[in-house]
Amino acid sequence: MMERFADVEALGRAAAELFAGKAREAVRARGKFSVLLAGGDTPRRTYELLAGKPLRGRVPWEAVHLFWGDERCVPPDSPHSNYGMARKSLLDRVPVDPGHVHPVRCDLSPAEAAAAYEEELKVFFPGVPPRFDLALLGLGSDGHTASLLPGSPAVAEAVRWAAVAKRPEEAFSRVTVTLPLLNRASTVLFLVSGAGKADVLRALLEDGEAAARYPASLVRPVSGDLRWFVDAAAASALTGACGLP
Ligand code: 6PG
Repeated sequence: MMERFADVEALGRAAAELFAGKAREAVRARGKFSVLLAGGDTPRRTYELLAGKPLRGRVPWEAVHLFWGDERCVPPDSPHSNYGMARKSLLDRVPVDPGHVHPVRCDLSPAEAAAAYEEELKVFFPGVPPRFDLALLGLGSDGHTASLLPGSPAVAEAVRWAAVAKRPEEAFSRVTVTLPLLNRASTVLFLVSGAGKADVLRALLEDGEAAARYPASLVRPVSGDLRWFVDAAAASALTGACGLP
């Protein structure tokens, strides 16, 4: 289901409210809420709104467990760090239990970090398929999501829950969760903003053949909900052919 918002502020508010609602629902039902945070710029406003009134008081932070959908293998104080962005915009401002914050270990080599991250996920989901209550994802103009980059072997990973990825033009490697993990989430929410995403979003929502080239098209929750929160600029190329409102 796709929902269109005037701008990133309205999109961020709706995403923060969904996060809070899903958190309360999960904690009521199972005593904890597990979430995969997205990187990039779009989710920043969502995190800032969650850290402020009124939403800050509507999330059972002590029972929230946070992981990342992907991470750049850089120090946490690097401007490229998804963990660093979430720390500044959210984690330093809410009472999460530090033991419930699970960043990728960028002090290790990328391969060791991916293996350690998968181990940490397996400890969190002992003996059961990994079913995140909420997976937040962004969308790149090349159709990537998390760090499942077009042409990357990580896209085809069918067993491991975490893998290494690399953009040729970037000095750093990345660690990303894989589709077997993402597609088991209860709710996957894409947050998409900006005119630069308009063409790829139209393909993903309205042109199955064109979408097939994009890793984001492979995010198909096995038994969960797939939702898109998009701003007007990102939605500007949609024709309505997908039948989505
Ligand atoms: C990353 C992100 C990436 C991001 C998209 C969209 O680490 O690069 O996880 O997948 O979500 O590139 O980024 P924006 O929201 O900044 O457009």
